[in-house]
Amino acid sequence: MLDTFDLKTLSKSRLSPNAHRVLEKRYLGRDGRGQVIETPEEMFHRVARSVARAELIYDGNADIEAVEEEFYELMSSLEFLPNSPTLLNAGIGSGTLSSCFVLPVPDSLEEAFETVKDTALIHKSGGGIGFNLSDLRPKGSRVKNHLDAAGGPVALIHVLSSAADFVRQGGVRRGCNSVVLSVNHPDILDFITAKSDPNTLTNFYNSVSITDYFLERVKANEDYPLIDPHTKEVVRWLSAREVFSRIVDQAWKTGDPGLIFIDRINRDNPTSNLGRLSAITGCGEQALLPYESTNLGSINLVKMLMDEGSGPEVDFYKLERVVRLSIRLLDDVIDVNSFPTTEIESATKRTRKIGLGVMGFADMLLRLGIPYNSTKAIAVAESVMEFITDTAHEASQQLARERGAFPAWGDSIYGRQNIPMRNACCTTIAPTGTLSIIAGVSSGIEPLFASVFVRNILDGENLLEINPYFEEVAKERGFFTKKLIEELVTSNHLYARTEIPEEVKKLFVTAHRVSPDWHVRLQAAFQRHTDSAVSKTVNFPKSATRDDIARVFTMAYEQGLKGITVYRDNSRQLQPLSMGEEG
Ligand code: CDP
Repeated sequence: MLDTFDLKTLSKSRLSPNAHRVLEKRYLGRDGRGQVIETPEEMFHRVARSVARAELIYDGNADIEAVEEEFYELMSSLEFLPNSPTLLNAGIGSGTLSSCFVLPVPDSLEEAFETVKDTALIHKSGGGIGFNLSDLRPKGSRVKNHLDAAGGPVALIHVLSSAADFVRQGGVRRGCNSVVLSVNHPDILDFITAKSDPNTLTNFYNSVSITDYFLERVKANEDYPLIDPHTKEVVRWLSAREVFSRIVDQAWKTGDPGLIFIDRINRDNPTSNLGRLSAITGCGEQALLPYESTNLGSINLVKMLMDEGSGPEVDFYKLERVVRLSIRLLDDVIDVNSFPTTEIESATKRTRKIGLGVMGFADMLLRLGIPYNSTKAIAVAESVMEFITDTAHEASQQLARERGAFPAWGDSIYGRQNIPMRNACCTTIAPTGTLSIIAGVSSGIEPLFASVFVRNILDGENLLEINPYFEEVAKERGFFTKKLIEELVTSNHLYARTEIPEEVKKLFVTAHRVSPDWHVRLQAAFQRHTDSAVSKTVNFPKSATRDDIARVFTMAYEQGLKGITVYRDNSRQLQPLSMGEEG
């Protein structure tokens, strides 16, 4: 049965064979015996129908069939895709439609274990979670009325990780979580090395929450205080430079921890009246208040190009239409969503944060003939993302006029300026790990991983991927051979091939050949025009030194990033993608 609809949908929605494999394996509806009973088109109809129902809440006479059709076209054309939980769960039972959650971790055994329970509930229905453990008293502290000593933040990460592992997300994937600890916490040194064995806590990303004050002390080579969050007393002074180099050392060895720049994050907090932002979600793209959740969605930039005879260029009219419709869809998702707990529902509905982002940026650059590591690429990133965020804000304002502003609007930065807004945050750049496979484009704003590679997904299944534009160019220029592809997959890399012209090699530059500085510059260009944060990994070659990592950490701060994650080749065991030596 699958064979028949594969052919039908392949021609219609241009889903690649790899997209089909992913959809079949994870996303398409199944019957009680586990048999796939849905085609990709039916999946997009299910999501469109279920989300469009929200329109009736605001207008009893809304033509929801027309809205459903618009949403269907938006998704099935692969111009925009909502995050995985929406594709998986919309219109089916009670699973959540959001990717991102933040849970509080108070300094009380009962409440901390409430959070462990909520963690299980969220993972059961498919989201990733962010935790800030900075309020926990340090390891070994006295616990009132007990002879026992507190376990401390690092011990709790293991508890959370076991809870997360116990319940695989909606039975389909392993949730990704982020844990943050303040650089002022007395257990900071243990936290920095918590993942020194790269085989532990593989579903958790740790980040040290760095303040402006701390970085000033690093610069001045001075000590800074560790403060017990429970007693508020200074327990010790450490050399800021020493702590910074321990973080660098560990990140150099294993890629973990990353950094988040907490003062920078809070300068963009739209609802500071509701509290400070202190945790970021699974892959670092969204800072949220405790119990808030966000549903994301990403625009496929490759589909936002037109060619009127003078070569490909960005079609801003199309982009505007797609952004407006995507914001409407994401706002509707909040109203048909099913939340794991009532606290999460009320915190989410108070600010109505959504996260519209992009995918296929590197593929778009290829078609524009612009190498990723170039000032032209920065200019494209800025103009496209500025346009998306401006248009998203206009769309959210329009929705506020139709449906009302988000409930916490009054004292928010928008309320204080009397700007109506339906959503406290509108844009976010997600990794699009799976969405980009479904759309058949490069992920998020990352450079190409390789032009030809084997993608290891779906519990060990390997999928060969050839960049479609590389195939096109290679065929046009006459160097596309089976032998070339086989050799690129195994050991040889693009740069050593004499049959490939230099300008082609320059254009198809891969993540490992893009210098860390360009990675940061690109991330900063997107961050300048994004409400929330930008998910990105800065790649380093295996030969990179600790000083290289330290310099890029400093550069990330100076360029205004909200956080940074680095990865030095071969420093972590688990690599989702594999290819010939250097791509
Ligand atoms: O492409 P997709 O919508 O599946 O997800 P993504 O853009 O790669 O990741 C977005 C967010 O989904 C992450 O920040 C996590 O919060 C969550 N996620 C997760 O919990 N577990 C995963 N295996 C992948 C993503």
